[in-house]
Amino acid sequence: MPLDVLLGLQWGDEGKGKVVDVFSPHYDIVARFQGGPNAGHTIIFDNQKFVLHLIPSGIFHPGVDCVIGNGVVIDPVTLRREIEQLEAVGKSVKDHLLISKRAHLILPTHKLLDAASEQAKGDQKIGSTLRGIGPTYMDKTGRNGLRVGDLLEPDFAERYAFLVNKHKQLLENNYEFEYDLSEVEPAFLEAVEYLRGLKLINSEYFLNQALKEGKKVLAEGAQGTLLDIDFGSYPFVTSSSTTAAGACIGLGVSPRQIDRVYGIFKAYCTRVGSGPFPTELHDEVGEKIRQAGGEFGATTGRPRRTGWIDLPLLRYAIQLNGVTDLIMTKADVLSIMPEIQACDRYKIGDTETNEVPYDLSSAFQPLHTSLPGWQEDVTAIDNPEELPQNLKDYISYLEKELEVPMTYLSVGPGRKQFLKMGK
Ligand code: GDP
Ligand code: IMO
Ligand code: MG
Repeated sequence: MPLDVLLGLQWGDEGKGKVVDVFSPHYDIVARFQGGPNAGHTIIFDNQKFVLHLIPSGIFHPGVDCVIGNGVVIDPVTLRREIEQLEAVGKSVKDHLLISKRAHLILPTHKLLDAASEQAKGDQKIGSTLRGIGPTYMDKTGRNGLRVGDLLEPDFAERYAFLVNKHKQLLENNYEFEYDLSEVEPAFLEAVEYLRGLKLINSEYFLNQALKEGKKVLAEGAQGTLLDIDFGSYPFVTSSSTTAAGACIGLGVSPRQIDRVYGIFKAYCTRVGSGPFPTELHDEVGEKIRQAGGEFGATTGRPRRTGWIDLPLLRYAIQLNGVTDLIMTKADVLSIMPEIQACDRYKIGDTETNEVPYDLSSAFQPLHTSLPGWQEDVTAIDNPEELPQNLKDYISYLEKELEVPMTYLSVGPGRKQFLKMGK
């Protein structure tokens, strides 16, 4: 079966973009299945750094078709900018970028609603990226949304005006929020025109036909399992299904097509935005990891919160996704630590448990096992045999605790800093 899925097992930013880029030469198609420009997927090669928000991370491989699936929400302004920026540095994009007609459109008023909602929530705010994600998915499930395919219909302008009007009423009746739509609308309407000229397709047919022909497809997740709308740390989550099941919904492929499920995680843990984070470090150790790992959001630039690896949460994510292969990134960042902590269970009242509580914000204590650090630069190692023994032991410990093999290890942001482990 030729459909593999790669997704994040934590709160996003695990290094999905880097790994999808490295895997891409082995695939015919890379397809994003959910999320939108809230994502920031970083790819670094030839001393250049690219951050992709909507374009699938296979785009730097001209022979690979890149599909933005029906489960994604698209901001035409961001997409246009992203395409133009890549083309300006000589990358071919438009000839191998395909967009589902069923993908929903983020309107300027969705972004205003996102900002108004966050402002009204005060210190209960989600910490949204303010890219309009929540309001757009709300219109999708509320059956009011506009889709990419609607751009090709003669009544698009009227439908757009109707929805914008509804949003204006929502803004005026529910929020004390000042806005000026005339500042943002012209760029949106121009970008809509631009979007009409791209390859807009029925991507579910395209993908199923490709699979029938034996082509290999990699489904690229955005965000991470702990931000999933159903299983994440609700309500501090995003508005889409970030799990392997989301790949089926967001691409129109059957679960029976899925072969490997690559679950990617950092050697420690980060979170950007609000919400519970049991193993968070509020001390200088957390700050050291933030600096060493360059833990600042790829989309918003916000500092990422940092903490130790959380095994109950990883086990939970592995179970939800049916992960077949683990990929650990940022092993190099922990080189600074003489000692590493791994949270392997929680203490709730007098009881110790491996299970993730219903409410992650409730009172419980993460219990840690301490492991010796490796304190050695690993960024140039290209043979797993040569890894420091303490890092090998950390990997064996994680494999035993998580009951899934570690198939790949990332030891730096570059394409070459990626090791296939001996399994
Ligand atoms: P994504 O959203 O999952 O694609 O991840 P981001 O791009 O938001 O954040 C991951 C960051 O870590 C990026 O700056 C990557 O360049 C970087 N990165 C990826 N893998 C590694 C690694 O193994 N080591 C280090 N030091 N950085 C990495
Ligand atoms: P990638 O794909 C990390 C977080 C936001 C916020 C919450 C809701 O790069 O891993 P939203 O804008 O979706 O309404 O925000 O989700 N968030 C991410 N955190 N990586 C991401 O994407 C994220 N996308 C959203 O910070 O807490
Ligand atoms: Mg990111």
